[in-house]
Amino acid sequence: MMDLSTTYLGFPLANPFVCSSSPLAQDRSQLRRMEDAGMAAVVLQSLFEEQIEQEALELHHALDHHAESYHEALSYFPDMKEYNLGPDGYLKYIEEAKQAVAMPIIGSLNGHTPGGWVRYARLMQQAGADALELNVYDIPSDPQVSGEAVESRVIDLVQAVRAEITLPLAVKLSPFYTAPAHLIQRLKQAGAQAVVLFNRFYQPDFDIDHLHVNHQLKLSHSDELLTRLHWVALLFGRVEIDLAVTGGVHTARDVLKCMMAGANVVMMASALIRHGVDHVSQLIEEILQWMFDHEYESIRQMQGSLSFRRAADPSVFERCNYMKLLRDAMQHRLM
Ligand SMILES: Cc1cc2nc3c(=O)[nH]c(=O)nc-3n(C[C@H](O)[C@H](O)[C@H](O)COP(=O)(O)O)c2cc1C
Repeated sequence: MMDLSTTYLGFPLANPFVCSSSPLAQDRSQLRRMEDAGMAAVVLQSLFEEQIEQEALELHHALDHHAESYHEALSYFPDMKEYNLGPDGYLKYIEEAKQAVAMPIIGSLNGHTPGGWVRYARLMQQAGADALELNVYDIPSDPQVSGEAVESRVIDLVQAVRAEITLPLAVKLSPFYTAPAHLIQRLKQAGAQAVVLFNRFYQPDFDIDHLHVNHQLKLSHSDELLTRLHWVALLFGRVEIDLAVTGGVHTARDVLKCMMAGANVVMMASALIRHGVDHVSQLIEEILQWMFDHEYESIRQMQGSLSFRRAADPSVFERCNYMKLLRDAMQHRLM
């Protein structure tokens, strides 16, 4: 029998499938269904920094009656209770989820600045979460703030969360950092055991006829995987940290590519929203078939086989590939 097992955040997993943070995890029957289909772990939808701060503000208002500042602050933020049950409901749900399934339950905190809200990391641990994913969803748009300052804020945040918990910690990042490998090295030193690559930005589009900005969440496709594959292949064996891929994992071949790049696990949301969580069982079958056809015995055997590990200087390799690509495009008259 072929061996699909891997490890992530210190957990031995039967296979590399993890349900990515999303409302897919928000009811227990759905959790059971995904576990039955073969899912190895699940990340719950996020609890947001702003939500936690807002609740603290409401309490402050109730005690001090600062009505004006309270209403002004509230008017900014969408009510997210329907999305994730709110801070208290979230903690209760962790307890319920732990009773419903045996697979690791990873709580998700989503924020961008260190602050009192990180105490929820500890509360999630106390509620029974097996690990924590910290999503640093940040769009640094202030021309006065340097890349160094942005990265240091991420590190401060990770250190603040690490100080609250003893659980394994993963950090979900965007692809837009100046020196991702260096940042990830610093994240490891700050106490992260894994990075989740990469956040998808829900880029708004313009409606030029009505001068509107359209905010619409579009599900991903496999072509979004390439940035992730590239970075996992670059990082594998160079920074000793677990690597999770999120963004564009749809097919069995996508999963195999991630493993060959060097990922520990793949995380899926869009594909499961499109096809249902049972889809995992079909992907597992297809992977087993592919491994049989290509005489692989285990996932471990392929992990990192297409990484840059053996390139002495990946940046030279990258430059050469880039130049070759341009030359070949010319030769094949693509231009
Ligand atoms: C409806 C929906 C809700 C999501 N909610 C969250 C969230 O609460 N926290 C988070 O970190 N990511 C969230 N994500 C992002 C996913 O976890 C995932 O990183 C992203 O969708 C890329 O993976 P995919 O290509 O498999 O969809 C959400 C995605 C979708 C589609």
